[in-house]
Amino acid sequence: VDLDSILNIDEIEEVATKQIPYKAWAYYYSASDDLQSKAFNGNVYRSILLRPRVFIDCTRCDTSTTFLGHQVKLPIYVSPAAMARLAHPDGEWGIAQACEKYGAMQIISQNASMTPEQIVANAGPNQVFGWQLYVQNERNKSEAMLARMNKLAACIKFICLTLDAPVPGKREHDERSKNVAANLPVRATTTTTVQEPQSQSLSKTSTKPKTMGMGQSLFWGTAADLTWRTTLPWLAEHTHLPIVLKGIQTHEDAYLASLHAPHVKAIILSNHGGRALDTAPPAVHTLLEIRKYCPEVFDRVEVWVDGGIKRGTDVVKAICLGARGVGVGRAALFGLGAGGTEGVARVLESKSSFPFLVVGFFFLGDWGRSVWICVANVWEIHS
Ligand code: FNR
Repeated sequence: VDLDSILNIDEIEEVATKQIPYKAWAYYYSASDDLQSKAFNGNVYRSILLRPRVFIDCTRCDTSTTFLGHQVKLPIYVSPAAMARLAHPDGEWGIAQACEKYGAMQIISQNASMTPEQIVANAGPNQVFGWQLYVQNERNKSEAMLARMNKLAACIKFICLTLDAPVPGKREHDERSKNVAANLPVRATTTTTVQEPQSQSLSKTSTKPKTMGMGQSLFWGTAADLTWRTTLPWLAEHTHLPIVLKGIQTHEDAYLASLHAPHVKAIILSNHGGRALDTAPPAVHTLLEIRKYCPEVFDRVEVWVDGGIKRGTDVVKAICLGARGVGVGRAALFGLGAGGTEGVARVLESKSSFPFLVVGFFFLGDWGRSVWICVANVWEIHS
């Protein structure tokens, strides 16, 4: 595929859909029940209008920002998403290479198809990673994983605790594909549990039923008994890394999370790409709630959002509403499926052209210029 001929994320998804095995597509594409939350995630951005202002000098735009004090070149990071090698042998390592190229942050899923050690192997000196945790019923397994992340602290700068999926969502595409032969490009199994880096076996799945979709299967062994009172103190005992809470969906929980600052340093407003509870709100709704009911949250913790981000304008809107940055899940996976590492790079692509220092996102082309006009405005208003 000529990646240059692909002009947007929908086209990336189209190309990847033709190239990756059905089972991989079903796992990536799926969301719970009627896919309402997945649809809201994208549609909500399309229903927000921008108010472009004129007479703003747009010759110099700087897209860099910081996440938890770490400098990054884009306010866009790759969300933790399991099993990237279903799409392409480059897997999460390939995503890391693309992120390094464009100075983007990456959060590694606990259910990554490569070990964290493999993924960060070629990390650049300033490359920023987080590692995502699903607390296991057998807490000693989670504790062993956290100990491993403490050793990787040169690259892994925070622990991202996912809270929105105490049980797996009912993902019917994924369930339907459970008996389909995998036909995968490479062996892809999760390797982040207690095994040593080279091990390819996954002990936590050894006794589970065989007839499950991939999503359910990956959730096997995940704890459903987390609470504000017990889980954060337990986590503090086992990691010295900052904590990011992922899957906050109401202003009440955003407020409670902010009371745990500075141990909790950021929250991610997310409904898990619509994959957990269908009809849960898109991140934009929660952003608006926080702005209305408890704006002090923005002063106490960084607020990141994900779900349905496909255009630079989406990023601008989220930032205008108070988000520090945005995550992309499927876009990176489908980028891999379309063209491996280069496909992910296409998703995050930046361009620089004199006299405009145009650092772009998602094929900053014809529409991109207007995005940066708005960004320039926003930054002028806020600075
Ligand atoms: C995810 N997501 C996810 N989240 C998480 O905390 N741990 C995980 O292992 C996964 N795995 C995963 C797999 C796949 C295939 C998808 C699509 C998503 C959710 C992810 O981090 C993020 O919240 C959403 O993907 C954001 O929505 P978009 O960008 O996919 O619309």
